[in-house]
Amino acid sequence: MNGWRLPGLSSLALVAMAGAVLATHMGDVEGLRLIIRVTARTSLILFVMAFAAAAMVELAANDWTRWQRRNRRYLGVSFAVSHFIHLAALIALARVDHDLFWKLTNVANIVLAGAAYVFLAAMTATSFDRAARWLGASNWRLLHLLGGWYIWISFAVAIGKRLPQGPIYWAMMALLLAAGIIRLMAMARRNRKEAMA
Ligand code: HEM
Repeated sequence: MNGWRLPGLSSLALVAMAGAVLATHMGDVEGLRLIIRVTARTSLILFVMAFAAAAMVELAANDWTRWQRRNRRYLGVSFAVSHFIHLAALIALARVDHDLFWKLTNVANIVLAGAAYVFLAAMTATSFDRAARWLGASNWRLLHLLGGWYIWISFAVAIGKRLPQGPIYWAMMALLLAAGIIRLMAMARRNRKEAMA
């Protein structure tokens, strides 16, 4: 599967999953919380695949990493769809159970995680060729570099505070750390090559 088909099919699957959860839970709070948790996890997987794509191919070029690199933009857009469903379910939770919503989050979290959504919206908008051309190559690179690492930190904070809740969060953290380390290793290798040239 390649190109726009990827976000197309992943969006369909995510919307179908959210619809099925809402239908079986009759739109109750537990159903909304399940959608929030599931989309956080699908977002993590899609984000890591997009975030580490270029570095993976630099460190270990093979058919899989080349596919990942070729589809980096579409993996990023799929991540955005998943994470905007996370946001939609959060807004629904705030409306359905205002008190529970404020027990689960706070203003500082909303401001910091909200900034991740600003980056995500800007990065998604500039995933289209015309918007990318308008922004210019060096601004595009800066936006995607800063945005990528800001979202990486947002995941680290969201997962880090849930580590005492069980091994699934340790596995999620391991995946996130692996993506960060792979990016740093590829960067160090590039710097070494440039220094030798
Ligand atoms: C305004 C923005 C956001 C708010 C208010 C928010 C709120 C929440 C809440 C309340 C939960 C727990 C749901 C539950 O236990 O039922 C949650 C889970 C989570 N969120 Fe968000 N979130 C926001 C944005 C983000 C962002 C930007 C990220 C990462 C980039 C993120 C990653 C996660 C993760 C990893 C979980 C854990 C899911 C699990 O239990 O597996 N969230 N969020």
